[in-house]
Amino acid sequence: MKPAVIELREGVYWVGVKDWGRRIFDGLIPLPRGTSYNAYLVKGGTKTALVDTVNPGFEAELLAKIDAVADPAGLDYVIMNHAEPDHAGAIPTVLAAAPRARLVLTAKGADLAVRHYRVPQERMRVVKEGDTLDLGGKTLRFVDAPFLHWPETMFTYLVEDEVLFPCDFFGAHIAAGMYDEEVPDLPVRAQMYFGEIMMPFRKAGERAIEKLADLPIELIAPSHGPLWRHPERILSLYRKWTAGETLPKVVVAYVSMWGSTERLVRAAVEVLLGRGVQVAVHELAHVDVGDLAGDLVDARAIVLGAPTVLGGLHPAALSAVNLVKALKPPLRYAAVVSSYGWGGGALRQAGEILAPTGIEVVGAVEVHGAPDAEAEAQAAALAGELAGKIHSPPAPGRPTGAGV
Ligand code: FEO
Repeated sequence: MKPAVIELREGVYWVGVKDWGRRIFDGLIPLPRGTSYNAYLVKGGTKTALVDTVNPGFEAELLAKIDAVADPAGLDYVIMNHAEPDHAGAIPTVLAAAPRARLVLTAKGADLAVRHYRVPQERMRVVKEGDTLDLGGKTLRFVDAPFLHWPETMFTYLVEDEVLFPCDFFGAHIAAGMYDEEVPDLPVRAQMYFGEIMMPFRKAGERAIEKLADLPIELIAPSHGPLWRHPERILSLYRKWTAGETLPKVVVAYVSMWGSTERLVRAAVEVLLGRGVQVAVHELAHVDVGDLAGDLVDARAIVLGAPTVLGGLHPAALSAVNLVKALKPPLRYAAVVSSYGWGGGALRQAGEILAPTGIEVVGAVEVHGAPDAEAEAQAAALAGELAGKIHSPPAPGRPTGAGV
């Protein structure tokens, strides 16, 4: 079988692999359409570099692809933009096949390369912001990009061809498509990916975007998903997402055991829709974490519907609240609706988790047993108050959380 190698520019090749069948990432994020591990070979007049590698299990495929355009044993450099195994897991195999190759990485990357892959120090070449490698008519320049999304991350920029290799940044989990225009919903997939992976590091992302403003970029070649042949498409989205721009939009995340919490949720949703708020509902017993994370990227508020189970939040709601806390979305407001059979506790726990986030908890409605018309009216009134705030947010800067 002849491996698929794609020449992106003269002497620049995609040698990655497509993992069509993968269905979960990090044991957390569903991959309904698989993913890709994009690696790139850059052949200059005198030297050859591999930019990133692939997920463990695909080493032979990677070497076969390299072999289609260059002798793997002749590699001079292996660039490690990021140490996570989906891009660096094949490094030991590649270094074994390329005895004179140096692993090019940041200082922090060097530490991780030892810890994760046992790479000997003498095989490494540490680089920093602005350093270059001359491959002979092709120059690789390195851009520090810490915490996008690990501390060691960097971007590699191919000067002559104006190609950016940013590893995970600008990526999307989807196996289909080589270029952005081939996947109609790619911006949606990219938003989900941003929510899952990059959202906790929005400030670092903003700094990186500012740095990139000085670089002419013809092609963005990330390590997951299609390449952005129209870079402004993803750059304009990332400018908004890293800045935390929100829409008049509510994420409604709820779970219900006997329908009581759901009735409160429905009362709130009707009001929100009637007030012209975008509503994205996620039923937490069957939630797709990627969908939820994607909606959190640009939502201004969240309504949490969570019954009490054994003195605290229903476990599915607990997981969702912890996810909100961890992903650090730009939410400004929250409201909680809850029910309990014989003893409460969900509201208290939700308040404890949300308190340090800075999200203003506008209010809460809690019922003992099945909600009556008055309880539904309270949920509707709370939604009305939330809608008012969503449509008239104060100037940027989060208000102080009011507590549940
Ligand atoms: Fe795609 Fe952070 O690895």
